[in-house]
Amino acid sequence: MENAFAERLVAWQRDHGRHDLPWQVDDPYRVWLSEIMLQQTQVATVLDYYARFLARFPSVETLAEAPVDDVLAAWSGLGYYSRARNLHKAAKRVMDVYGGAFPQARSELETLPGIGRSTAAAIAAFAFGEREAILDGNVKRVLTRAFGIAGFPGEKAVEKKLWALAERLLPETGIQAYTQGQMDLGATVCTRGRPACIVCPMVDGCVAAREGRTGELPTPRPK
Ligand code: ADE
Repeated sequence: MENAFAERLVAWQRDHGRHDLPWQVDDPYRVWLSEIMLQQTQVATVLDYYARFLARFPSVETLAEAPVDDVLAAWSGLGYYSRARNLHKAAKRVMDVYGGAFPQARSELETLPGIGRSTAAAIAAFAFGEREAILDGNVKRVLTRAFGIAGFPGEKAVEKKLWALAERLLPETGIQAYTQGQMDLGATVCTRGRPACIVCPMVDGCVAAREGRTGELPTPRPK
């Protein structure tokens, strides 16, 4: 089912995915900010904070120049405050090292504080159209189910297998729709509790759906 996977996902995203999120814009600063907020916080909660944060810090320059306590105050309520500290550090680095222009390459984005491989890939794909694979919790759930990959995804060997699969599945074009489609499918259809397999575009060929294993995939952390 390999590239039927990307084709179906992109078609589903076009018809059923989210298109009105405020960070679906052509601005690396806004894309970056959203991806950091969304690392540990759900979309519905992020929406408010995101608007307020941007009103207070409309550009990477205003963020870099603000005192860190102002940044922490604007973050207040979102939790995981290391994200806000790293955000501030990264903004300073973007100003000092890149003259205020975010780097485009995933490998370079990954060197900024608070940006791991998957977040770097999401920013590179959304803001610059780079053909990069993401692998966050949602994508791990979709891939382990669709391809019947057992083993705790936090384990190195399993994670390695999932990254390789995620890269193999990348479409040649339409990276933004594909990337957003994976996030949206994982958040709205291929959910943790009760996946809505009946409306899932991937159900044909999904190993977990066919074998009745959505309850056991992804494999939980070993006790
Ligand atoms: N979770 C992480 N990134 C996201 C995005 N760009 N849209 C929706 N949910 C997300």
